Amino acid sequence: MVVIKRALAVLVTVSTSAALSQSVSQITPPSITSTSMNVFSSTSSPKASVSTLSKVLSSPESSLSLMSLSTVSTASTAFSSSTCKCQPSYDYIVVGAGPGGLVTADRLSEAGKNVLLLERGGPSTAQTGGTDVPPWAQGTNLTLFDIPGEFPAMFGSSGPTNWFCNDIDSMAGCLVGGGSAIDAGLYWYPADSDFANASGWPKSWTNHTPFTQMLTQRLPSSDTTSPDGLRYLEQVYNITSAVLHPNGFSNISINSNPNMKDLVFGFSDFNFQEGRRWGPVATYLQTASQRRNFRMVTHTMVTALARNGSTIVGVHTNNTALGGNGFIPVGPDARVVLSAGVFGNTRILFQSGIGPSDMIALVQNNAEAAPLLPLVSDFIDLPVGMNVQDNPSVDLVITHPSIDSYDNWADIWQSPRPADVSQYLENQSGVLAMSPPKANFWLAFESGDNITRFVQGTVRPGFNSSKGFLANANFNVSQAFTITLSLSTGAVSKGRVGLTSPTSDISVIANPWLNNADDKQAILIAVAEITRTFPLVPNLSLKTDLTLLKNLVGNPTAILGSNNWVGSCSVGQVVDENTLVKNTTNLFVVDASIIPSLTVGNPLGAIMSAAEQASSKLIAFATFHDNNVFFPIKLAGDFVIVPSGSQFTVQDWSITNGQTDPKNMPFVGQILSMQNIVSDKFSFNEGTFTFHCGRSKSGAVADFWNNNFKSSESTFGHGAGELNFAFKGTLQLQLKSSDQIVATTFQNVGFAQGQSGATNNWWFGQAGGQHRGGDQLQIFGVDGSNNPVSLIFQRGGGGNDVNEITLLQANLST
Ligand SMILES: *[C@@H]1O[C@H](CO)[C@@H](O)[C@H](O)[C@H]1NC(C)=O
Ligand SMILES: *[C@@H]1O[C@H](CO)[C@@H](O)[C@H](O)[C@H]1NC(C)=O
Ligand SMILES: *[C@@H]1O[C@H](CO)[C@@H](O)[C@H](O)[C@H]1NC(C)=O
Ligand SMILES: *[C@@H]1O[C@H](CO)[C@@H](O)[C@H](O)[C@H]1NC(C)=O
Ligand SMILES: *[C@@H]1O[C@H](CO)[C@@H](O)[C@H](O)[C@H]1NC(C)=O
Ligand SMILES: *[C@@H]1O[C@H](CO)[C@@H](O)[C@H](O)[C@H]1NC(C)=O
Ligand SMILES: *[C@@H]1O[C@H](CO)[C@@H](O)[C@H](O)[C@H]1NC(C)=O
Ligand SMILES: *[C@@H]1O[C@H](CO)[C@@H](O)[C@H](O)[C@H]1NC(C)=O
Ligand SMILES: *[C@@H]1O[C@H](CO)[C@@H](O)[C@H](O)[C@H]1NC(C)=O
Ligand SMILES: *[C@@H]1O[C@H](CO)[C@@H](O)[C@H](O)[C@H]1NC(C)=O
Ligand SMILES: *[C@@H]1O[C@H](CO)[C@@H](O)[C@H](O)[C@H]1NC(C)=O
Ligand SMILES: *[C@@H]1O[C@H](CO)[C@@H](O)[C@H](O)[C@H]1NC(C)=O
Repeated sequence: MVVIKRALAVLVTVSTSAALSQSVSQITPPSITSTSMNVFSSTSSPKASVSTLSKVLSSPESSLSLMSLSTVSTASTAFSSSTCKCQPSYDYIVVGAGPGGLVTADRLSEAGKNVLLLERGGPSTAQTGGTDVPPWAQGTNLTLFDIPGEFPAMFGSSGPTNWFCNDIDSMAGCLVGGGSAIDAGLYWYPADSDFANASGWPKSWTNHTPFTQMLTQRLPSSDTTSPDGLRYLEQVYNITSAVLHPNGFSNISINSNPNMKDLVFGFSDFNFQEGRRWGPVATYLQTASQRRNFRMVTHTMVTALARNGSTIVGVHTNNTALGGNGFIPVGPDARVVLSAGVFGNTRILFQSGIGPSDMIALVQNNAEAAPLLPLVSDFIDLPVGMNVQDNPSVDLVITHPSIDSYDNWADIWQSPRPADVSQYLENQSGVLAMSPPKANFWLAFESGDNITRFVQGTVRPGFNSSKGFLANANFNVSQAFTITLSLSTGAVSKGRVGLTSPTSDISVIANPWLNNADDKQAILIAVAEITRTFPLVPNLSLKTDLTLLKNLVGNPTAILGSNNWVGSCSVGQVVDENTLVKNTTNLFVVDASIIPSLTVGNPLGAIMSAAEQASSKLIAFATFHDNNVFFPIKLAGDFVIVPSGSQFTVQDWSITNGQTDPKNMPFVGQILSMQNIVSDKFSFNEGTFTFHCGRSKSGAVADFWNNNFKSSESTFGHGAGELNFAFKGTLQLQLKSSDQIVATTFQNVGFAQGQSGATNNWWFGQAGGQHRGGDQLQIFGVDGSNNPVSLIFQRGGGGNDVNEITLLQANLST
């Protein structure tokens, strides 16, 4: 005789089994929907999620907004500042809108990640809302940052300088575009040596070509940036040619031959187009800005990162519009990318308890910053700020009657030559459509230690009297031009940046220029090589005093600097090959800071190629988790699940590309045994299946799920949009009542995990199962005697988390 025992959803106290002797709370109707519950269960580990969120939720504003975000469990959390008044949950917070941050934010948002880009400064070019229009261009929207010829005004006394970072003792740009908004625009496609293992890169970085191609497709260089196709102030190129040709140099198109960096010269290459500054702002930022899952907020300075052990749980900013006290929570699967520059990153890291102990000790004495530090036991000792380099450079000031020094760029802010103003305003052509450099060259040679060192030459009309080693100013300045010689690849001199007192600027605290004898010798060899052929060019006259120059090389100071900083968070030392800050789980650095040694030319191209490569690594880099789905061990009528002997046998699976742990691949036939764990939440235990892989949503996994389970065959009663991973297989459950144990088997059961913002919610289904409303599913199987059985489960709701699947009712033949 077969009797179906109907278990009721509403339970009573039981006393049948020792394991079950405690009273079980009544299941409440699912008045809290699974979707709003997402907020409270953001990881598969309830312990971590509850504690992390309690911190996050301590700001009422953020809790409300997180709530309002989790509307539909399958919805992607696309957002835009105009439509979303809530605080969305971000996959990535990128700190700093320089070339590293812009490329990274664009590529991550292109990959579907929700990206918040924070920039401490304000707009730059007109396209970004900038309004610093020079007096001669009033009535247009062409700003200081748009007009290439205004580059010398960046250092002048007359133009605006509010964009200088006010807490860095070096010329650093705190504005949209970072250094790329204020530099001379020199743009070199990286040489292979820029990413060579010998230059300090891990082997996984050395094939930069595809990433450099991605970059140059988005942002090609140009050596004729005036739209009329003409070159202006070309005299210095011709004189350079006259000096270098007899010296054995060949003229080439530099960016067509990135690896040719010895005895070559050519026209300077720029990232300008249409007679205007272009760079990552006119390219990457524009595509990112068109995406609803990208948001940039300016005038927002990151002061520190909130940390629990090795995991960043929030970002402290000075922008209260972004959340209580400017605190932005970082969800359990979210990441922070620092792109605040070689100097800017160091302060953020120090103030987050990451860096050399002497630096963190200074922060501990800063009354404002100290309270944001993590526990002393969580400080991470890394060589942040060490290993920095900047090209040591010397200027040779020269005169020649053919040269037009352009009045040494005087009045370039107030009143450039009227004809050039008209030409630029009318056609965006002419002298003002280019920045001063006109020619570049390279030479390479071995110095005493047998290391090959490279020297870059940059030639421009005009000169800088404080850098030119001039014995006197007794020459015709209208005919002056400059050859700057910069030591690059091969330089071994390194320095350090950091704090000098608890509240100081970030400064150079150990000189990185020419503190090595062979570096000194190299720059002097370059000077001798280049000046060798000067006598062959009639009327060429060197005005630099070589004795003064040699004295400074012997006793180096900051005058030798070029502001081409790299290395404060060098790959291999501070970050690993995935750009992950060592000893952290979700903090990355992507900008010039990670570049381990000087690039052969100005670093902009290498920074952006590195950011392309880093973005690709970030997208591929999975954090492998033990993803746990829980079965509360509580009575459903007369029955309760017994973990021992319960198991799930994998028949098929789908995991988002790149998220499968190569050391722990799921395989068909694999048996997952149900573990019996102490619940952090209930007075009874929970059975657990663990699926080990990374979490990243994709349509491919959803397709797998939808192909295997109809809408009516899951706890939700609808299809999936995007899922992290999905498994299909045979579920075997041991069910126990007061007088028996029943072994049950259910074919074609599915477990999957979806993502809604920061939360990961589980899906439960069975091909042939029946959705019953209220996130409930009835599954059908057999017992050990092949009699039909069915179970009703609820996922989420009624006190459940989104990772709990609770047995409500067991219909067994007994
Ligand atoms: C930090 O994370 C651990 C789990 O790794 C958790 O046990 C602890 O409660 C968390 N602390 C805070 C303050 O969130
Ligand atoms: C700048 O002004 C020009 C001409 O008035 C206009 O076409 C262009 O859209 C403006 N650009 C920006 C970024 O405002
Ligand atoms: C070369 O690459 C290997 C493997 O990535 C790395 O361990 C090593 O430190 C690199 N060499 C240098 C000089 O950085
Ligand atoms: C530079 O040299 C080229 C080629 O010889 C010549 O056409 C051009 O006029 C010269 N430019 C100047 C400014 O002398
Ligand atoms: C090199 O200079 C010569 C002579 O001025 C010119 O004809 C040639 O096009 C130049 N080559 C490149 C690659 O610029
Ligand atoms: C945050 O600090 C930066 C840098 O000092 C400043 O420019 C910005 O205006 C500040 N933002 C707010 C909202 O106070
Ligand atoms: C970083 O982690 C390693 C183990 O992975 C440990 O040996 C080291 O002490 C940690 N360093 C710091 C500064 O926490
Ligand atoms: C602007 O370009 C046009 C067409 O080439 C030319 O006729 C005109 O003279 C230019 N204007 C100025 C001020 O150079
Ligand atoms: C440089 O190379 C030469 C010739 O191979 C050798 O004699 C010398 O010892 C090397 N110097 C150093 C510093 O390695
Ligand atoms: C200085 O150079 C300019 C431009 O070549 C020339 O016109 C002027 O005559 C020179 N002045 C003297 C004093 O030689
Ligand atoms: C060079 O200078 C001499 C006088 O010293 C002068 O006669 C000659 O014309 C100059 N050559 C050029 C190309 O200016
Ligand atoms: C000249 O060089 C000095 C020393 O490098 C620098 O501080 C200054 O800004 C430069 N001036 C100009 C106008 O480029």
